[in-house]
Amino acid sequence: MDNGPKAMSTFVRGLKCRLCGKTYAGEALNFCTEDFGPLEVDYDYESIGESLSRSKIELRPFTMWRYRELLPIDGEPTVGSQVGGTPLVKANRLAEAIGVENLWLKNDAVNFPTLSFKDRVVSVALSKARELGFKTVGCASTGNLANSVAANSAAAGLEAYIFVPSDLEQTKILGTSIYGAKVIGVTGTYDQVNRLCTQVAFKYGWGFVNINLRAYYAEGSKSVGFEIAEQLGWRTPQHVVVPMAGGSLIGKIQKAFNELHQLGMIAKPACKIYGAQPAGCNPISDMVKNGREQHRPVRKPNTIAKSLAIGDPADGFFAGKVIRDSGGWAEDVTDEEIAESMALLGRTEGIFAETAGGVTLAVARKLIEQGRIPRDEEIVLCITGNGLKTQDAVAGYLERPMIIKPSLEEFEPMVEGYREPALV
Ligand SMILES: Cc1ncc(COP(=O)(O)O)c(C=O)c1O
Repeated sequence: MDNGPKAMSTFVRGLKCRLCGKTYAGEALNFCTEDFGPLEVDYDYESIGESLSRSKIELRPFTMWRYRELLPIDGEPTVGSQVGGTPLVKANRLAEAIGVENLWLKNDAVNFPTLSFKDRVVSVALSKARELGFKTVGCASTGNLANSVAANSAAAGLEAYIFVPSDLEQTKILGTSIYGAKVIGVTGTYDQVNRLCTQVAFKYGWGFVNINLRAYYAEGSKSVGFEIAEQLGWRTPQHVVVPMAGGSLIGKIQKAFNELHQLGMIAKPACKIYGAQPAGCNPISDMVKNGREQHRPVRKPNTIAKSLAIGDPADGFFAGKVIRDSGGWAEDVTDEEIAESMALLGRTEGIFAETAGGVTLAVARKLIEQGRIPRDEEIVLCITGNGLKTQDAVAGYLERPMIIKPSLEEFEPMVEGYREPALV
């Protein structure tokens, strides 16, 4: 093992079990030794409240680290100091297209450095990994996490082992190898990859961001919620739609809103939270829609939204609870609906989101059609990744460029055709 516990910051007491509450020192451990419940970071909110205020936050650079007292590292971030601070776009053209009045897009498709919200969780996990003394890190990934761990490890001088399902999009594999990481394609599902990584993490004593460092890693997602609330003028919207894979991001957005309220920075959140999944891998939405408290794993995910293809989500139970407690709902959508929504987002807002963004928008449209999200209320959609990484998914749904000779006579007859919508 190349890790060892270090002194905790004044704002973090350690870790505690989400089921039985047993406490642990700040170490690289993700489950409770009593009941195998997941661990989460245990903050000293009283000290945070004494030190942090809205005006203090507003004076800091607009990155996720402006909320650093609410993130679990001891010193200054040493990895990903530029991450976060992504735009909250008022999406009026998309709103008109789908028949709602107030719509925003939290656009993490332009996050730095690897164009997805995963840069947030990775900067926390790898900053923590360095504090704990790890020299070698890794992850099990459906693609975006792979890109982010590889890039951020390269910049931090950490050795990285990245495990992915071998049938992942080539762009995501290439966007990992480019950073010099060791990429291992495993012939199996994400859940099989994840089990292998658990064995590797414990055998070799490496820091796996979403395994033994998961409690710290997951906290990075709170910054999406902090930023949404601040960008709306220190308040929450009435509805937020969030894509779900492992089911962690959705819970951390709610946790962020609750923490800001606990610290007196926003009014009591009355925000309904909705989960979005692809129909080809929908363990959490299926659980919610059928009124169950536990998900049934999807053994063989089959969807173009590969980033969301986690059949046995680690935080499925908690995601369901967040959705129920907030008064939200969950839905799932077909590959065709996903691609169609990716194209709609592109042509109305000029945002090229990856398949997960297509899932979020398509689910939002379904919930609006169902009357679950009222058309005159405030809606935020979380766009979590970039479409340049999943181009194949949408290629078949877009019109091919017309090829002409370089003459005006050839172009003129086509002008009328181009006035039709681009979608076939
Ligand atoms: C682009 C994108 N959006 C959303 C998610 C879902 O995040 P979580 O696993 O926290 O539910 C992922 C997970 O890999 C992702 O890659």
